[in-house]
Amino acid sequence: MSGLAPTAPDGGRTVLVGVTGGIAVYKAVELVRGLVKDGFQPLVVSTPAAQRFVMPLTFAAVSQAPVLDDESAWQASGGWFKHIEAARTASVLVVAPATANTLAKMAAGIADNLLTAICLAFRGPVIVAPAMNWAMYEHPATVANLCTLAQRGVEVLPTEEGELACGEEGSGRMVSPAAIRLAVRRAFAAGAAGPLTGKKVVVTSGGTRERIDAVRFIGNRSSGKMGRAVADEAYLRGARVALVTTQPADDTPYEVVGVESADEMAAAVREQLKDADVLVMAAAVADFKPRADEPGKIRRGDRETLTVDLVRTVDILAQTARPGLFRVGFAAEAGPQLRRARAKKAAKGVDLLVFNDILAEGVGIGADENAITILTAHDEIEVPRTSKSACAVAIADQIEEGLRGR
Ligand code: CTP
Repeated sequence: MSGLAPTAPDGGRTVLVGVTGGIAVYKAVELVRGLVKDGFQPLVVSTPAAQRFVMPLTFAAVSQAPVLDDESAWQASGGWFKHIEAARTASVLVVAPATANTLAKMAAGIADNLLTAICLAFRGPVIVAPAMNWAMYEHPATVANLCTLAQRGVEVLPTEEGELACGEEGSGRMVSPAAIRLAVRRAFAAGAAGPLTGKKVVVTSGGTRERIDAVRFIGNRSSGKMGRAVADEAYLRGARVALVTTQPADDTPYEVVGVESADEMAAAVREQLKDADVLVMAAAVADFKPRADEPGKIRRGDRETLTVDLVRTVDILAQTARPGLFRVGFAAEAGPQLRRARAKKAAKGVDLLVFNDILAEGVGIGADENAITILTAHDEIEVPRTSKSACAVAIADQIEEGLRGR
């Protein structure tokens, strides 16, 4: 992420959205709409190649502002040329989709169209969302260019794996508009560095699935929403986030590691913790798993009952204690069992424990809202029923408070 402060200290909400010539331009339309919803004023800058995919009129309509293109580049206004004026007006610049060609120009400092000229003239936080064929994405030239940009403080968003527009499979698909929106929100807050800025935060989420056989598993109803909200909040506060989850999460601007079982989650957490500062164990880890994992499918046959022998899973949280790592545990209890939560905090030796009562009305597992009590070293902070993202704000506040006190 760029450590540069936004250029427009006017509380301005203008974000320059550079669109370049790739099929993913159609997703930029949704991005621009989303940015308007988020309260920003997008100013679209289109390269000539982008205009072959989506007409400027579309962007003008969704952004409610004229589109800047190479035609308008030559019209002086207010004593400034367009690229300087645009660069001075906006607080954040996002290039999405960013083709290999534009990324190469940005890395080399070439300014042969309005967008690349703006990239040179702009002094605030810059985000790029690469989009291209997998072979172009993996080419050493592109890898080097992205590396150069990242070293200069540009936030280089990951790409998604999957089917590409050319029909081939691989990495290079542009991240979702939702992920880019989160990155833009964070860039607007770039000046407000806090204790989480630059820290690596590992968050787990979702319920694990323990295999019984090739088709069946033991699982739970955890939706992963609480962990996801904490991961988003940590990211917004400038942290380097890794989300280890059993749930689909292809719409994040940060690293996601997909896992299924408690064992897989334990291995992924161990790997991610090598350079981490904070661990937030929001996942609902199964306490037991089948002793044997049948390779095939257990047949019903003529049996009336089936006994599955279960053994304890590894306690991921309890195993991760080490000096310097700030650990946050969760305790979802059936009933107002604060005493149990206090005991769990001590047993797991965590810095914070987030307690919630899963039997309370309308909150907890699967819901969009939660009601929590955060047990800190000295305090018990109650957060009455509210959105999971508001709960995440309260949890992140306490993590920051705890880190400050170290
Ligand atoms: N946890 C873990 N590994 C497990 C079980 C739980 O890391 N195998 C973590 C959870 O992610 C949570 C905390 O430990 O942050 C407490 O989980 P919880 O299920 O409430 O407690 P348990 O340790 O399983 O104890 P009990 O079931 O007896 O309440």
